[in-house]
Amino acid sequence: MRVMTGKEQSAPTEEVFPELTRDVIDRMSSAKSGRLQEVMEIVIRHLHAIVREAKITQGEWWQAIDFLTRAGKMCSESRQELILLSDILGVSMLVDAVDNVAGPGISDSTVLGPFYAGHQRELAQGDSILLREEKSEPLVMSGRVTDPEGQPVADALIEVWQTAPNQLYDVQDRDQPQGHLRASFRTDTAGAYRFRTIMPVSYPIPDDGPAGQLLAAMGRHPFRPAHIHFMISAPGYRTLVTHLFFDGDEFLESDAVFGVKPSLVVRPELKRGINTVEYTFGLARELRHGSARPESFVAANNRSSPFGSLG
Ligand code: BEZ
Ligand code: FE
Repeated sequence: MRVMTGKEQSAPTEEVFPELTRDVIDRMSSAKSGRLQEVMEIVIRHLHAIVREAKITQGEWWQAIDFLTRAGKMCSESRQELILLSDILGVSMLVDAVDNVAGPGISDSTVLGPFYAGHQRELAQGDSILLREEKSEPLVMSGRVTDPEGQPVADALIEVWQTAPNQLYDVQDRDQPQGHLRASFRTDTAGAYRFRTIMPVSYPIPDDGPAGQLLAAMGRHPFRPAHIHFMISAPGYRTLVTHLFFDGDEFLESDAVFGVKPSLVVRPELKRGINTVEYTFGLARELRHGSARPESFVAANNRSSPFGSLG
């Protein structure tokens, strides 16, 4: 460990101990993966820059270590505090922006969220995704799945999930039948889908852990605007992970996880007295091999290296 002189300590922060950063980076010259080396160099440069720019004290460093330790300990089979942290800091939406393709005829994507539960029952066109009655306004969702040229994508798998009116997903609530308000559908030969559900409600993300404490400390609320989750997949196309949000929701401008995009906000029309939304999802062609289809966080939990080729 090198001891700094008094003169060095009073240097402008961007100049404090630059050779340390170089040394940490240079010691990766035998890294087993070029990509890991590339990403870690950037991580190290930025972490060191944070410490210099914010002039982090020993006490603050300790607070950060304690925070991350508590966040890690909060993770379990049914809780992923680190993803929540990534979500509330906008990192998940940034990865979505960097790693997703956009363009004419391609729908916008957004965060997956922690409540995708993996394989779910497949229903027929027009079926309801409810497993019990709810005192909520009914909603009929229909539309098509198309390719970038607007041609139908037949037999696409459409997976949907949403909260109950008590603001909880079935996987968070022992009182709901498992599979309530989630189901899968297949598009027909015209690329069409149709199902029945209820109007979703806005709800708070789990905020009883370190991520929630940080939200409160930053003066932010934990709410997400009402939405229905969609994951749409078909061979030869990029899996689309997205939501539909509802016009007029009070949290559209302040989603706790920054997931709202204008193209994903719908306004139901009353048809024969029932709220009805028609929405066409455009899929991007898959140009890369082995595109990752998001797994349920629960299903992904036991794998040793979630970073795939990075680690
Ligand atoms: C969700 O929409 O289910 C969600 C997304 C991010 C964090 C928490 C919940
Ligand atoms: Fe959600």
